[in-house]
Amino acid sequence: AVAVASASPAAVAEAAAPEVPREATILFGSQTGNSQRLAGRLAEQLKGQGFEVTLSAMNKYKTNNLKKAPYLFVVASTHGEGDPPDNAISFHEFLHSKRAPKLDGTKFAVLALGDTSYEFFCKTGQDFDKRLEELGAERIAARVDCDVDFEDAASGWLTSVSAAVSAATSAGSASASAASGVAGAQAAVAGAAGSESEYSRANPFHAEVLESLNLNGRDTDRETRHLELSLEGSGLTYSPGDAVGVFPTNDPTLVDEILSYLKWNPDEAVVTGKNGETSPLRTALLHHYEITVLTKPLLEKAVAFSGNAKLADLIKPDNKDELKAYIGGRDLLDLLRDYGPWTLSPGDLGQLLRKLPPRLYSIASSINSHPDEVHLTIRKVEYETHGRERKGVCSVQVSERLSVGDTLPVFIQQNPNFKPPVNPETPVIMIGPGTGVAPFRAFMEDREELGATGPSWLFYGDRNFVTDFLYQTDWQRMLKDGVLTKLDVAFSRDTDEKVYVQHRMLENGAELYKWLQDGAHVYVCGDEKHMAHDVHAALLAIVGQYGSLSPEAAAEYVAELQEQGRYQRDVY
Ligand code: 2AM
Repeated sequence: AVAVASASPAAVAEAAAPEVPREATILFGSQTGNSQRLAGRLAEQLKGQGFEVTLSAMNKYKTNNLKKAPYLFVVASTHGEGDPPDNAISFHEFLHSKRAPKLDGTKFAVLALGDTSYEFFCKTGQDFDKRLEELGAERIAARVDCDVDFEDAASGWLTSVSAAVSAATSAGSASASAASGVAGAQAAVAGAAGSESEYSRANPFHAEVLESLNLNGRDTDRETRHLELSLEGSGLTYSPGDAVGVFPTNDPTLVDEILSYLKWNPDEAVVTGKNGETSPLRTALLHHYEITVLTKPLLEKAVAFSGNAKLADLIKPDNKDELKAYIGGRDLLDLLRDYGPWTLSPGDLGQLLRKLPPRLYSIASSINSHPDEVHLTIRKVEYETHGRERKGVCSVQVSERLSVGDTLPVFIQQNPNFKPPVNPETPVIMIGPGTGVAPFRAFMEDREELGATGPSWLFYGDRNFVTDFLYQTDWQRMLKDGVLTKLDVAFSRDTDEKVYVQHRMLENGAELYKWLQDGAHVYVCGDEKHMAHDVHAALLAIVGQYGSLSPEAAAEYVAELQEQGRYQRDVY
């Protein structure tokens, strides 16, 4: 882009390379919908630059079109231990296999989404970036790795892609379209925030708390809040499978301990806004900064403010395991105490700390059953580690410091990858232990409203029947009314031997397979690391046994379900 801009227009026109077709393929791998939305923004932007655009989830893309793609853009997030999102698994595998074509004629750029508090930050996007280059494609814009607060970094990438395609396409019009492209990028960014409601992640709605109930029984210290929020006047709406993003407030006790450790004046003004807006330091620590999670980038920056050689040592590549062990379960207060003294001033916080990211909760209600309301199911996270009580930021705020009549800043996070079947009569199998059951209350309420009577089967599990059966009365009513066809429960701590949802699935394997053959959709929500993994294995086993399939053929059957959108997961 720089070379083109510095040459005279005439010289540029003469030197113009043969026109590359203005055809862009945009592929996304998205679990919660962020990558998908950003891919959509890129599509709008490129259309504005005169491109014909193919926008597709990776698993829906016909890979034999790949070698003909003049421009390829990839937007992908990373989950768990560096894993691709569900709808990127097959394409990720394909691209890394021998079947992947040579891509000499392709220009590409990659946007990666992730979270620096995980070891394999943005790994999926990095894999794609590296592999596309290996296959001979030409990178026209540098990959950008976004942290949880992805907005600015992603917008920067969109802008650089816009400029790069302008430079790469017809050189004669390069400078004009580069400018319009950048403007287009900014318009696309602004437009996406708007939609039907004026409220969004960038401009959250302050929703009033209408109800806050503890769903757990008395004889347990576990606490799961059923929160009912008012959306009245917001113009916000949602559909089953969507989530609510909540901007939480940090624990005031922790904030005060940090302030007193640093001997800082809580009222001192610090800059917290992009345009230089300030807040009192205590307010900034309560609302703006993440203080409960340590990340590698944070420690790297912290070295400059701590003369501590041990801290400098900890972030060396050789000490990867020590670093991981240290940051696990520790917070800013630990870091300050462990590696002081500090030459840190309140004004440094902005470059040291991440913005407090919103927490996403799967919506537990249907807006058709509860107009102008949204319900959430939030389990209090509290545990002790490294000698101190640790508290989940949002869940503890909701349990301990939020009353009816208070407000919470929220936005709707649409999740196109977790949607009930278009036809409400299609059979559904729902697996949602613990708070993973939340979206299925939304699914079933919606069916109830629609008067749908298609078969539905819920697998629910938790520790104890008496104290932990979330929404028990709702399920019983729905069973009685025929909205819910079948309910199987697994209470893991009521018996000597553990029973989990996947055991109930296996016990009902023959019938479950029959439902699949009848076209059922399968939904899994909840814990990713253990539950979703084991449920997946159970599904493979059932398909193998009752479909008389080899392990490979069973895997293909389940992959096919996934491709068809008949096996969707909302796991975390
Ligand atoms: P446990 O804590 O008694 O082991 C909701 O949290 C429920 O999920 C609990 O009953 C919990 O059981 C259970 N659970 C724990 N690990 C699981 C796994 N790998 N698969 C399915 N359920 C699991």
